[in-house]
Amino acid sequence: MADAKSNSAVAETNEAQIAVHWKEEEYFDPPASFVAQANLNDPAVNERFAEKNFPKCFEEYADMLTWFRRWDTVLDTSDPPFWKWFVGGKINASFNCVDRHLAKHKNKAALIAVPELENEDPVVITYQELYVRVNEFAALLRDFAGLKAGDRVTIHMPMVAELPITMLACARLGIVHSVVFGGFSGEACGLRAADSGSRVLIYMDGYYRSGKMIDHKAAAEIAVATAEKEGQSIDKVLVWRRYPGKYVSAAPMVKGRDFFVDDVVGNYRGKRVDPVPMDAEAPLFLMYTSGTTGKPKGCQHRTGGYLAYVTGTSKYIQDIHPEDVYWCMADIGWITGHSYIVYGPLSLAATSVIYEGVPTFPDAGRVWRIAERLDVNIFHTSPTAIRMLRKTGPEEPKKYHYRFKHMTTVGEPIEPDVWRWYYDVVGKREAVIVDTWWQTENGGFLCSTKPGIDRMKPGSAGPGMPGIYPTIKDEKNEDIPAGSGKAGNICIRNPWPGIMQTIWGDRDRFVRQYYSKYCKNPQSKDWRDWPYFAADGAVLPADGYFRILGRVDDVINVAGHRLGTKELESACLTVEEVAEAAVVPVADEVKGRVPEVYVALKPAYAPSKEITDKVVATIETMIGKIARPRKVHIVPDMPKTRSGKIMRRVLAAISNTLDTGDITTLANPDVVEQIRVAVQGKEKVATKEGPEDLKQFGKEE
Ligand code: PRX
Repeated sequence: MADAKSNSAVAETNEAQIAVHWKEEEYFDPPASFVAQANLNDPAVNERFAEKNFPKCFEEYADMLTWFRRWDTVLDTSDPPFWKWFVGGKINASFNCVDRHLAKHKNKAALIAVPELENEDPVVITYQELYVRVNEFAALLRDFAGLKAGDRVTIHMPMVAELPITMLACARLGIVHSVVFGGFSGEACGLRAADSGSRVLIYMDGYYRSGKMIDHKAAAEIAVATAEKEGQSIDKVLVWRRYPGKYVSAAPMVKGRDFFVDDVVGNYRGKRVDPVPMDAEAPLFLMYTSGTTGKPKGCQHRTGGYLAYVTGTSKYIQDIHPEDVYWCMADIGWITGHSYIVYGPLSLAATSVIYEGVPTFPDAGRVWRIAERLDVNIFHTSPTAIRMLRKTGPEEPKKYHYRFKHMTTVGEPIEPDVWRWYYDVVGKREAVIVDTWWQTENGGFLCSTKPGIDRMKPGSAGPGMPGIYPTIKDEKNEDIPAGSGKAGNICIRNPWPGIMQTIWGDRDRFVRQYYSKYCKNPQSKDWRDWPYFAADGAVLPADGYFRILGRVDDVINVAGHRLGTKELESACLTVEEVAEAAVVPVADEVKGRVPEVYVALKPAYAPSKEITDKVVATIETMIGKIARPRKVHIVPDMPKTRSGKIMRRVLAAISNTLDTGDITTLANPDVVEQIRVAVQGKEKVATKEGPEDLKQFGKEE
């Protein structure tokens, strides 16, 4: 931001607000059969959740839960922007997702875990069975691992039923779980474990991916070593086995530190553990996510407000009834999985499906076979998955006899064309679609149509959710009126129960990151003075349907996974030969965006394939394969401002064959053409037209 005040940067900032043009899309009506059975089909909801009824309106969600003690205060604003929800209330998330369903639903499937290998049958876990297993594992956590309320535990597991069992066992005791996406490396896990102060890690020995058994326990060794290097010792590693009794990893079990869960849990057979009544404000979990620095931040989510918000939105927007079979294809290691595979659906006594593997394994029909076999009727996935399924098998859904009443898209902007395939072919024109916009920080949906009430518009998330009042602001903190055709930064004007409490251990960063930009009066105790800055660009036409354009910061959304360019750059800089590194997003037909890496070498080194390979390998080791760059460009020098800042926007323009804009103010303008030729070839092909997030990338620097 150092240059934001220079003339050229001001000119660029203004450019960020120029009109954004796209073709207006036609509306689609929700099918009448859907509306008739919807949990929410009365437009009176808009009135109930109108601003004049805020914050009390959110009691409607909290009342969907079972509380040990009712709250005294709905919203406490005494310490902005650290809002407190349902203060005085006592609640337990595990009790709400398990115990309270036993009376009516104990024999009903809570989880159906589908192994990747098709010759392994789905594993069905009823609510009664979930109750037993959560209790036994909670007893193990308490009595064997010595854990208690407030302790943190890091969980690095694949998509198996044991993962929600582990989370719910933690929640039963008030242990704060921190689930790290299984695809992250051991090193990434170790850093998060250290940041959260976890002394216990929970792993699984292995899992299937594209038909191959992945040795996952090997990552635990690296995680422990990394955490210890950071000063956090790990006392115990609890290892679930993919096949109880049979260890599939080659990594040795360390005596006195590593334990097989299936060995130890036998000592707790039949044990019951009372759910601990937790303060509504007690943290339920941490979820690390990427931001604008090299260090991931632990988003800390509260118990009462979070559970109320995901339950309410699962009921109204996901339209979950207890008799539904609901399948969200996200990974539980991301926020979508926490909110809309585990906590929301289970709190409503749904059947939640978990699939271990790759959607196209062994072939493009797999997803639709699972849907048919389990009779899934609510389906939830990302644009990347939809694009991939369309590419690999555009006609496949027609071959299978499933019927979806409801489908969700989440995580990235969806192209209207892709939306229409989802609607016509996957949904067979019978399913309603919601395009839900939100973030790890938010706990649950922020913008979406209400499926039983609002019309759908391909490519637009829709209006603010009930009780969420979004606005679009320009750089001068003015609201951009609906219908002006101008893009700006989407903000939420009010607090809501699902918003994170803080960044774990870093209150200042929380305020700086989300509130400093638009807070006009830091002394104010009025929530109206504290709009939440989401770091997404958006436009708002006259119909009130927000269209999300993508990140306005250093975050790249790769296949719906959030990566920080600074994290990748930090990894590159650990390679001995690398002097400077810059990471930029590049448009990709299936994954939305992928990272490309530019490095400049230290004087003693010449470019070579070995160095390129080393950069890729280092990124995979430090972050994980999901961060693998599409290309690594070794350049003679980075384009820089006179004050020495790397101009990432110029590199992003080159990688995306966009116009590089004004480069005359650079310290070394000549290098731009050299890099352009090396990347694109001699011919000049750059255009001015391109996705807004790519055009804006790096402009604020
Ligand atoms: O840029 C937005 C994009 O995903 C970012 C949040 O990523 P993450 O924290 O990993 O959470 C993903 C799942 C909630 C946002 O800042 N994004 C999310 N949903 C949408 C979206 N972009 C467009 N349309 C969406 N529906």
